[in-house]
Amino acid sequence: MVLPKKSLKEQIEELRDLIRYHERKYYVDNDPEISDGEFDELMQRLRELEAAHPELITPDSPTQRIFDGTLEGFVQVQHKVAMLSLDNAYDFDALSEFDERVRRSLGVSGDIEYVTELKIDGVGVALLYEDGALVRGATRGNGSVGDEITENIRTIRSVPLRLCSDAPFVPRVLEVRGEVFLGRDEFERINRQREAAGLPIFANPRNSAAGSLRLLDVRDVASRKLDTFIYTISYLEGDGISTHWEALRLLRSWGFKVNPLARLCSGIEQVKAYCREWEERRHSLGYDTDGVVVKVNRLDYQRALGQTTKNPRWAIAFKFPAEQATTKLLAIEVQVGRTGAVTPVAHLEPVRLSGTTVKRATLHNEDEIRRKDIRIGDIVLLEKAGEIIPQVVKPITARRTGEEKVFHMPKNCPVCGSKLVRPQGEAIRRCVNSACPAQVKERIMHFASRAGLEIDGLGPALVDMLVDRGMVRSFADLFRLDQEQLARLPRMAEKSASNLVAAIEKSKKVPFDRFIYALGIRHVGAYVARVLAENFGSIDELISAKAEQLAAIHGIGEVVAKSIEEYFSVEENVTAVRELLAEGVQLQYPARRPEAPSPIAGKRFVLTGTLSSMKREEAKKRIEALGGRVTSSVTKQTDYVVVGEQPGSKLAKAEKLGITTLSESEFLELLKS
Ligand code: IVH
Repeated sequence: MVLPKKSLKEQIEELRDLIRYHERKYYVDNDPEISDGEFDELMQRLRELEAAHPELITPDSPTQRIFDGTLEGFVQVQHKVAMLSLDNAYDFDALSEFDERVRRSLGVSGDIEYVTELKIDGVGVALLYEDGALVRGATRGNGSVGDEITENIRTIRSVPLRLCSDAPFVPRVLEVRGEVFLGRDEFERINRQREAAGLPIFANPRNSAAGSLRLLDVRDVASRKLDTFIYTISYLEGDGISTHWEALRLLRSWGFKVNPLARLCSGIEQVKAYCREWEERRHSLGYDTDGVVVKVNRLDYQRALGQTTKNPRWAIAFKFPAEQATTKLLAIEVQVGRTGAVTPVAHLEPVRLSGTTVKRATLHNEDEIRRKDIRIGDIVLLEKAGEIIPQVVKPITARRTGEEKVFHMPKNCPVCGSKLVRPQGEAIRRCVNSACPAQVKERIMHFASRAGLEIDGLGPALVDMLVDRGMVRSFADLFRLDQEQLARLPRMAEKSASNLVAAIEKSKKVPFDRFIYALGIRHVGAYVARVLAENFGSIDELISAKAEQLAAIHGIGEVVAKSIEEYFSVEENVTAVRELLAEGVQLQYPARRPEAPSPIAGKRFVLTGTLSSMKREEAKKRIEALGGRVTSSVTKQTDYVVVGEQPGSKLAKAEKLGITTLSESEFLELLKS
């Protein structure tokens, strides 16, 4: 028997389903079945097939998560169903009162079934699916109107672009709600990167998740590994479920990431036990939770209970108490960073807080210390902002003995002694002596870090030694170190010396973007470095680039552009680069970004009115075949509105927003080109 050969389209769709399955295993279930390498191979195969047959690309393909372009802003959208907030309970008495209210209103005397879920400290979002495909993502906003952030949501790997087809059913229209958040590791990684680029760090994962969702460059959003937990179905066409617990199961079957720690509780005492348990265990999680959401399980009960203007009467948020501790501020040390920024750091008597021992806390800057009137020797109140970075909230003035000392920021650099400068309008003083050993050490560490030249074995203790002994003053000095010299250093074995020399040698071949990052230019983190590497053909071109030219690049703002120009206007910095090249450092340049294959690729179209030469469906297909997208409503992000006979209100909207309109013949021209 000869089996019919599968069409290419079928083969591609099969490959996509396989990739979707493994994406789910990895990002939703945390239970991968294949290695990253194997997964990459599947993706690569799909990319190749799609590149050879662009007419077969669909918006829900796993290759289409990242829209290559910048958004111009966010359009506001009205939610299908208002996104309410929750009433809070701060203790168990309030939980008992909630339970009594529920039972009284329903006229139930026995135990009520509740579902308890961790309250995730992130950003609430609503995701809309039509015929199984993700068509819209929006933030909660004020509850009735939020921002449309579809392109940014699409980058989140735990969000299915297409609902899983082996679910019990796939609804025509579905809206789900959940929380977008950042895991702690990712939050810390982003902050380390920001610190390295001289950018202000985020206070907590919630802020950084919110900030990430509002980035206009979709590639930027994709580089932050946002995650989701989906916790409710807010709209389901042809509704057929009767409990929230069932809804959670159904959400899982569609491929959403649902928190596995949700529990079905019988009666309020079991709810309290859950709250008690997670108040203790919450620090063992990889993400932040600020409480427990308690929901009546039966949906008919939920409907009967209804809602107030702001909150549902069938749910309540039990808030974990804020974690605070008091301890003694022993000393204030002043640290000098890579860019010379001088920051005060509190040294504390070690104290337990939110599952870790805290010994140090940043005091930000001198104005902050003065504003809070923090003195050396004070007993201070500490709090973990977003549970991660310890903050000094205030001094406990009632416990002062009179021995406390007011802190004065030094006028001179504590390391090199040169005069500190506080630029007008800035809160931070800087050491402007670029040869300051503290700065040199930080610069060398940054240069050799993983995102830079990745020199294994060059840790902080060794860098301290090399700089203090005058063996390393510049980047190029690293390449002049020899094995014998290194082996003579204290605590340095022959073998480690030779390993280090080998690692330094190996680091000489370096991709252009990592080299740019390694220089430690203020405001230039890994992402900006990548953009620069993609836009400049050589290091010389970059060195001579003017701020104006830099700012014209998509992804580079004015502050960053100025900082780069300033950096290369300092002769020593250019010399440092030349010396590196003379020592044999070889920059590996990337292939330039390919030009867009068609003027339609990546563009968003809206069709209105009737076209005489083809049906709307066909127009849609042809646009998609060329890599464009067709959406239903006109927004600021729409690139073209194609206007047929008897156009609807979309034309007026397009004119109002100043969006390019195309007549049918213009549209046909565009298809041809
Ligand atoms: S249910 C009608 N469940 O908390 C109530 N909310 O103050 C819908 N949140 O805006 C909310 N985790 O962003 C629900 N498991 C969870 C949650 C959760 C976090 C957030 C959500 C909401 C806010 C309510």
